[in-house]
Amino acid sequence: MNNHTQDKLDTEYFVLRDEAAGLDGMIALHSTALGPAAGGCRFWHYPSHEALTVDAARLARGMTYKNALAELPLGGGKAVLRVPEGPYDRAKLFRAFGREVEKLRGRYLTAEDVGTCVADMEAISSETAHVAGLAQVPGRPGGDPSPWTARGVFGAMEYLAQTHLDRAIGDCTVAIQGVGNVGGALARLLHASGAKLVLADTNSERLAKLAIETGADVAGVNEVCGVKADILAPCALGGVFNATTIAKVKARIVCGAANNQLATEEDGVRLAERGVLYAPDCVVNAGGIINVAAEHLGWDAAEVVRRVDGTAERLARVLARSDQLGVAPNLAADSLARERVRRGAALAA
Ligand code: NAI
Repeated sequence: MNNHTQDKLDTEYFVLRDEAAGLDGMIALHSTALGPAAGGCRFWHYPSHEALTVDAARLARGMTYKNALAELPLGGGKAVLRVPEGPYDRAKLFRAFGREVEKLRGRYLTAEDVGTCVADMEAISSETAHVAGLAQVPGRPGGDPSPWTARGVFGAMEYLAQTHLDRAIGDCTVAIQGVGNVGGALARLLHASGAKLVLADTNSERLAKLAIETGADVAGVNEVCGVKADILAPCALGGVFNATTIAKVKARIVCGAANNQLATEEDGVRLAERGVLYAPDCVVNAGGIINVAAEHLGWDAAEVVRRVDGTAERLARVLARSDQLGVAPNLAADSLARERVRRGAALAA
């Protein structure tokens, strides 16, 4: 039995349906070996319930790996909700979701993901305590996790620029695909460092505004993976890299926030064969979940900074393992994560 099948078999699915509230979705719990299954709630358009289930499963597994690699006492899970076709009451929908989270009695901890925001988490919190990413109390971790995710990705880029390009990040050109909450914050950090930017987003208004603010060039959403840049940062949705897109990549490094950037494991090998260093998403995009964990577990703000700024060090360990084993970085990261989960499960048994 290969790991993929194993993971699929291990995942528990909870179908979420409340017609009156417009709730239609799924919670996928991949692992609770290291702690409650933690992972954000995605609110997105899906053509079918099957497509939504596949996405939930992949994202939940990614959270198990991400949380293990970030050395958090958390397992992996994810909620995926379909955006209703017609009009709907947003707060009512997220309250209904909160009731479903509550039914799992702490086995799942939710927070923001693509399409959800602090106000949604507040609505959820009227029904359950198993939610983070709530409005921030001054001096305490909380609020929108995206700036922390951007900070971790930026730290990883600084490290990679120095070690693999022999330059400061400020002397690099970085192409960002998707300039929403994380991509936008990342663009601002890079701009402040002096880096040159090429930005792409399906939201042309958001793109134009940020390009003016950061003096960036813009690229088409279908072109951005192939633009001339030192680093390519996917910060939109997953499944960016497949045989076709990889053939176009000109950047020497891929380092971005989007979850599940590789369409398949083999695409990590394809990137390596093309001479592109891929910084596994599950290693570099953990800043947000670190902030979520801190909020939920009662850690202080200094601990968040310490752990988020440890992203480069954790990445270095994964890349060293990749070199040692002679495998692509994504495979090195996955094997390290699985090892930690197995150890956690054995300790708990
Ligand atoms: P967001 O929804 O704020 O931003 C996504 C942006 O991508 C939007 O501006 C959207 O218009 C754009 N976009 C969508 N399809 C695109 C395409 N084909 N080409 C170019 N742009 C496109 O989402 P957020 O929170 O910034 O997350 C971005 C990615 O990072 C997601 O994959 C998410 O799962 C991942 N992530 C986010 C974390 C967070 O703290 N928000 C934490 C870890 C991962």
